[in-house]
Amino acid sequence: MQTLAIIGAQWGDEGKGKLTDLLAEKCDLVVRYQGGHNAGHTIWVNGQKTVLHVIPSGVLHPHCLSVIGHGVVLEPENFLNELSKIKGVTNVTPDNLKLSSTATVITSYHKLLDAARESQGPEKIGTTGKGIGPAYEDKVSRRGIKVKDLLDKDTLVRRLSTGYAEKAILFKHLYQIEIPSIESEVERLYRYGQSLKDYVTDTFSLIDDKLSQGKRVLYEGAQGILLDIDYGTYPYVTSSSTAGAGIYTGAGIPGRKLEEVIGVAKAYTTRVGEGPFPTELFDEVGAEIQVNGNEIGATTGRKRRCGWLDIPLLRYSVKCSQLTSIALTKLDILSNLKELKVCYAYEVNGKVVDCAYPGINLYNAKPLYKEFKPFTDDFSGGKTSKELEDYINFIQESLGIQVGIYAYGPDRNQIVFRK
Ligand code: GTP
Repeated sequence: MQTLAIIGAQWGDEGKGKLTDLLAEKCDLVVRYQGGHNAGHTIWVNGQKTVLHVIPSGVLHPHCLSVIGHGVVLEPENFLNELSKIKGVTNVTPDNLKLSSTATVITSYHKLLDAARESQGPEKIGTTGKGIGPAYEDKVSRRGIKVKDLLDKDTLVRRLSTGYAEKAILFKHLYQIEIPSIESEVERLYRYGQSLKDYVTDTFSLIDDKLSQGKRVLYEGAQGILLDIDYGTYPYVTSSSTAGAGIYTGAGIPGRKLEEVIGVAKAYTTRVGEGPFPTELFDEVGAEIQVNGNEIGATTGRKRRCGWLDIPLLRYSVKCSQLTSIALTKLDILSNLKELKVCYAYEVNGKVVDCAYPGINLYNAKPLYKEFKPFTDDFSGGKTSKELEDYINFIQESLGIQVGIYAYGPDRNQIVFRK
């Protein structure tokens, strides 16, 4: 296996960081391909917690080359802060961390716009307010600023000036906010550019070279497939291509295909922010999962909504990202619950539907549940109960792909490889 992807199979926060960190050990490159510092990958190593936002999870392995691909949006100040924090934990240098020269930059304007929109509604998306969406908007409208533009003042002035007057007027009249002048923003961004320039490179040709040398590449997804700008539950999505297709556009696999795509799914379902959620629980079991699972966003501090595992949503994720196996996380949180259910299909307008295709109105989908005998495993000694095996096997059979890995705690070694 030379190319492997780890992608969230739900609405994010599935525990991808831990798995990427673990599998990075066997890879030479770990590549981020979308999103920005809205991701929060939590990794526990020997009791020490590290939260990574835009820096790939491979950074904790000295032999790994960590790559931030061109599909990522980068807030330079935040990147440099994360870099200095992580330098206290592991050795990061321009030799083992590479930043795409064509990644898109998040400017002050993008952050201001994100915050202003989210505070004014009327339809809140539940964004993290970090400027991710507005930066992608500018990228798509060809007004984006690329990382390489930070390295040259004249280019920076030219690029920032594109559409600036329109932005300033819009801001002043709609939100009564003055955006920073071009001059001050140029100074700020140029300064950051000087601090990060040693990390900047053409990451596409770097990946090309490494693949030609037979190196193993791991593509690290952020958020989850159901938040994909095209495949997700629009408009309650993120602004990037979180599904497998995003790897081809956001970093590239020159001359190759993805060989293995692991979809990471929690043993239940969570969602941050707004949007449909057929299996959401509003009772004490939901509250217990939320508390025991510490379902609070690593980046936003917001409580996550919790519900039973939703097979129709996962079936859809398997199809749109060609998942080859599932890694099931947080099984420990379900242990000892007084009841245990899995949604195997929905009833929609009197019909049974087993896959959450985009044509289905999820607000209208009544979950049909299979009840399981709750398991009470403490996961010590590598033994699993019949009840736990039944739960895992049902998921595997329903999805038609193997649950190859399951996790039962936050630490690196609280994981079982089943194949
Ligand atoms: P996003 O890309 O932002 O969606 O993040 P993520 O998928 O990497 O998930 P994140 O690390 O934010 O959240 C997962 C949380 O669950 C972290 O606090 C992990 O330490 C923890 N975690 C991961 N696997 C397990 C598990 O099997 N059991 C328990 N109890 N915690 C786990």
